[in-house]
Amino acid sequence: MPTLNEIRSTFLDFFERNDHRIVESSPLVPRNDPTLMFTNAGMVQFKNLFTGVETRDYVRAATSQKCVRAGGKHNDLDNVGYTARHHTFFEMLGNFSFGDYFKEQAIPFAWDLLTGEFGLDPDRLLVTVYHTDDEAAAIWKKYAGLPDERIIRIASDDNFWSMGATGPCGPCSEIFYDHGPEVWGGPPGSPEEDGDRFVEIWNLVFMQYEQFADGSRQDLPSQSIDTGMGLERIGALLQGKHDNYDTDLLRHLIEASANATDGEPDGPGNVHHRVIADHLRSTSFLIADGVMPAGEGRGYVLRRIMRRAMRHAHLLGAGEPVMHRLVPALVTQMGQAFPELGRAQPLIEETLKLEETRFRKTLSRGLRLLDDELGRLPEGKPLPGEAAFKLYDTYGFPLDLTQDALREKGRSVDIEGFESAMAEQKAKARAAWAGSGETADSAIWFDISDEVGATDFLGYDTETAEGQVMALVKNGKRVDSADKGETVQLVLNQTPFYAEAGGQVGDTGTLRTEDGTARITDTKKTAGVFIHFAEVTEGTISRDAAAQLEVDHDRRTAIRANHSATHLLHEALRRALGDHVAQRGSLNAPDRLRFDFSHTKPLTGQERARVEEEVNAHIRENAPVETRIMALDDAREVGAQALFGEKYGDEVRVVSMGADEGSGKGLDGRTYSIELCGGTHVRRTGDIGLFVTTSDQASSAGVRRIEALTGPEAFRHLSAQDGRVARLAGELKTSPDDVVDRVRNLLSERRALENEVAQLRRELAMSGGTGQGAEPQAQEVGGVKFLAQVLDGVSGKDLPALIDAHKARLDSGAVLLIADTGGKAAVAAGVTEDLTGRVSAVDLVRAAVPELGGKGGGGRPDMAQGGGRDAGNADAAIKAAQAVLEG
Ligand code: ALA
Repeated sequence: MPTLNEIRSTFLDFFERNDHRIVESSPLVPRNDPTLMFTNAGMVQFKNLFTGVETRDYVRAATSQKCVRAGGKHNDLDNVGYTARHHTFFEMLGNFSFGDYFKEQAIPFAWDLLTGEFGLDPDRLLVTVYHTDDEAAAIWKKYAGLPDERIIRIASDDNFWSMGATGPCGPCSEIFYDHGPEVWGGPPGSPEEDGDRFVEIWNLVFMQYEQFADGSRQDLPSQSIDTGMGLERIGALLQGKHDNYDTDLLRHLIEASANATDGEPDGPGNVHHRVIADHLRSTSFLIADGVMPAGEGRGYVLRRIMRRAMRHAHLLGAGEPVMHRLVPALVTQMGQAFPELGRAQPLIEETLKLEETRFRKTLSRGLRLLDDELGRLPEGKPLPGEAAFKLYDTYGFPLDLTQDALREKGRSVDIEGFESAMAEQKAKARAAWAGSGETADSAIWFDISDEVGATDFLGYDTETAEGQVMALVKNGKRVDSADKGETVQLVLNQTPFYAEAGGQVGDTGTLRTEDGTARITDTKKTAGVFIHFAEVTEGTISRDAAAQLEVDHDRRTAIRANHSATHLLHEALRRALGDHVAQRGSLNAPDRLRFDFSHTKPLTGQERARVEEEVNAHIRENAPVETRIMALDDAREVGAQALFGEKYGDEVRVVSMGADEGSGKGLDGRTYSIELCGGTHVRRTGDIGLFVTTSDQASSAGVRRIEALTGPEAFRHLSAQDGRVARLAGELKTSPDDVVDRVRNLLSERRALENEVAQLRRELAMSGGTGQGAEPQAQEVGGVKFLAQVLDGVSGKDLPALIDAHKARLDSGAVLLIADTGGKAAVAAGVTEDLTGRVSAVDLVRAAVPELGGKGGGGRPDMAQGGGRDAGNADAAIKAAQAVLEG
């Protein structure tokens, strides 16, 4: 009996032998379809190949595609556990032709695989075709030899497959297996078709048209093939089971669930084990593909599935969280075919455990409340919406969990009542917000948020994605479209664009729809709505259009590097300076980073060097950067640094990077940096490339600001520095290595020369040969010998020595010297001892100083000094001193 893993391999091997490229399953969160919540068919990743928008280096492919049907249009959640063939997670086996073969080949492939490789009895197979598809009917007849009564023509949409309201589509042909007359049911198209006798196993779609929103249909550029066969279904058939949950893979998971809860797999708990087995698969794969439990969007669907499983574990009497303990069994079963499962195993286990631990706190109280309510209700009456809302709001019961709990008791919920209670709560929140004093401007974003919901951010995993334009705002008003040249703000249902937050700047990039193109110049966020600032550069952008979104990759790459480097810098600073270092602000732009932190002094050269060295060592370590969602308390417990001034919910995103044996931080106790952070980061620290600080300044009292560069910017900075040093060395005729010594020598030589020049000048001034014009002559003024001189190139501090020398030569008299020091003036006066009773040097200086544009001046009667701004007025200063002597 082949296992599901073997069946998958047989399928893929068969098509590989027939020249098909085996392509990996695409992620469960579609990258290229804004209208889909989760990937729900194999063709989703190939949509653009069918329409001819994209080509690849293969024209035939085969996949085993992960699919989730929960939330959105195809929602099988409610039925899981109670039926034989419903799953929230399943694998779709498919072969594809992109303009290569068409039905003449697709039908033989399918027939050969089923009757050859899989060994199904040809007499038990029958098919349907679209009622007008004579061609397909003829091929079945000719190749498979099927008689007319086993080629059933169906006129309904059942045999015309389209992926949605728009996109590639075409007639299809479904292959059924007949379990025989002992099982009740009739062939497709008959009144008994819903019975279990005839089971659809494979759908072959003959892709031929593209459906447009206006209802029109056009031929595809070429005819193509898309097929889908549920692995669990074909597995049940090949393993001789009627129930998908009896196949080996799911059976293993059911047994793991029974073991974990000390129960019997087939006892009364069977339905619970089935729910748990299915939900374990969908939740684990969703987490592995980057979905995290949240209050809305995809994250909320994940939470609903998780909590539904957790209630069933609770019903089994589990006293402890169960789901995370089953993950190893799943990884054993499916980890080989889907390596992402093994890679994400710790994250899956943590996330499940956290959710279950938290939910268990309210689960039993909520169930008690539910029982009380039901006890009060008359038989057959639905649970009032108010009660269901209270369970939702206070006890964290998603509506479908309440419905699931009631289903066992044959009761239902008043959905309308639930919805109106929900609407009332929203209105209250809104009113509270209106009173909170935020600007009226934001009102429009709250309206939009109410109407279209919060934007789903895809940008942690991808920089390109499709989104649907949900609203356009121009000058504060809603509009339906915007034309070339207009500037508008756009809201989409999902986006890879990061909205400015936590110091990280908003993303820029481009948005393309069928009718137009816009440049996104910034992205911000209000009320959960991502606001894309857009300039329409071509055509028209309209509401409801599907848009291809592309973040400016180089810019985002640089921002990521700066943001991750900021985390390393933060930790390095704490270690170099002390635990008082706390983040006070930051900027993560593409061209630089800025980090403000509490610290009072500039960093010493040594501290700065140590910080740079440590950050660069962790860059070279090339450690993976890991993100996980944790309860706030748990995050604090493992040492996560919280950002100043940020508000956190109960659950936080935690970013850790780098290793340090002794840190005691992180889940492993050896994490270097761990912070609460919603930003986007590099995958590995090595992606930062290089780190260099460019400045360290005071930012405000007690706060320092470091600016730094990473990657190419850091390299350019260092290389420019290096260039300057090389030029300097060239000018100095030395090597860059010796340039510092050379400069030091030059400076000391220069100091020596300056001293020598000053000395020579003094000597010259004294010897009369001053080089300052005519030799100074003393004149008689007011009966006193008075010598006045203006000197160039002599400093103020040389003046007293010169005064003394002149006084000695004069024998008896007064001296006034004015030194012109580059436009400014220093002045000194001297009076020989015999005259100090008649005239004071201080008076002479005080008379001269104002003329020189200065103030004051002072000293002793025999020697005084002063200064001024304007040596050009030296003659007037000398005259003023003469006037003093003249009395
Ligand atoms: N895309 C087709 C389906 O989902 C094969 O049934």
